[in-house]
Amino acid sequence: MQSARTGTPGVDAEVLVLGAGPAGLVLANLLCAAGIRVTVLERQRRDRVENRARAGFLSPDSVDVLRAHGLAGGVDRLGAVHDVCEFRSPEQHFEVRYGKLGSQRPHTVYPQQLLVTDLIAELLRRGGTVHFDTVVEALGDLHTDRPRVLVRAAGGRTRSYSARYVAGCDGSRGISSTTVPAAIATRDHDITWLALLVQAPPSSPNVLYGVHPDGFAGQMPRSPGITRYYLQCDPCDSAGDWDDERVWAALDRRLDVRRHGELSRGPIVERGLVRLRSEIRDSIQHGRLLLAGDAATAISPSAAKGANLAIMGAELLARALTAELIDADSSALQRYSADYLPMIERAQEFSHWMIDLLHPPATHDPQAAYQRVLRRARLHSLATSPAHQELFARNYVGL
Ligand code: APR
Repeated sequence: MQSARTGTPGVDAEVLVLGAGPAGLVLANLLCAAGIRVTVLERQRRDRVENRARAGFLSPDSVDVLRAHGLAGGVDRLGAVHDVCEFRSPEQHFEVRYGKLGSQRPHTVYPQQLLVTDLIAELLRRGGTVHFDTVVEALGDLHTDRPRVLVRAAGGRTRSYSARYVAGCDGSRGISSTTVPAAIATRDHDITWLALLVQAPPSSPNVLYGVHPDGFAGQMPRSPGITRYYLQCDPCDSAGDWDDERVWAALDRRLDVRRHGELSRGPIVERGLVRLRSEIRDSIQHGRLLLAGDAATAISPSAAKGANLAIMGAELLARALTAELIDADSSALQRYSADYLPMIERAQEFSHWMIDLLHPPATHDPQAAYQRVLRRARLHSLATSPAHQELFARNYVGL
């Protein structure tokens, strides 16, 4: 009989994991802990993956998963608890103390590059294999019991890996998601954010949402010396159109510093553009290829759900693959889509609700005017209705 623990003869790994982001690395760690031989294939160099500043807000469920599997050392040491967010608009200013509402649980802020660094170190300690600088170019034999993955390694050398299962954790534009046939519900929101990383302490300990007629502005604390700011910009802009002076003037205006005090300024060490795009697929399995994280759904960053969906999906998939490979029980694997897709849909719905709340319509016709009124009413309801805040709190920290 084949055994995942002793290793199936004739395959390079029991599970090939494509992509070393949060989804792939959590999955690989959990499989390794269960005694399953795993190889991760990642197109970037290790130092690049460990230095990519991206998300940072971990939901309480994500932290529970990391803790339950011995992956929360760094999170518990260096993570900061966040339980208040603040909305600033020309009409009103209010805080939502979400840690005291809903499920009464806070976020933990831990920069994603630190989490990824921890997960790589732990995976190697657990005996997992990671090939960096290795680009997956093709997938084959997915409907057999020996799927194959063709890669191009550093120096241009190609080779093929075989396994019993392939986990597609290679992001929203990776080869895995294009390989799985699916009906895709999609939305390009026609909204672009200028994403800035500033070397300065946060201007407020809370997340700030600037809901301004000029466009959205946000402040997300990352660490005592680094703060993330977002500015909605024209979809045709390039990052170079925004010099420091223009950035600070827009942040000052949209975050209303005249009423709330100056922002802590510092050097802008990174500036890039994020186009808000959402994609929900009706299928995340194709033969022995299973998708998790951004590969399973592209989600806008408006509610910080991407990394959390990645961690939750990785845990579901790890449980399903462990049952299949260790106990020969395929029921969880058969249910994988049915278990993961509702979680994805809930997160998408709330992210879209946040998009509508945070961004003014781009035009000035009567329909856009109508949307503006609804947006003001929604903000007012959130500011004044305890029931609305209660629901917001549940959606904000949960999936
Ligand atoms: N071959 C090998 N690796 C690949 C390939 C390929 N052809 N294509 C993409 N990758 C790698 C990327 O370099 C990246 O490291 O897959 C990884 C995917 O990682 P993420 O994009 O972080 O996706 P995921 O793990 O699903 O995490 C999703 O985390 O950063 C947040 O908000 C972000 O929503 C996102 C979430």
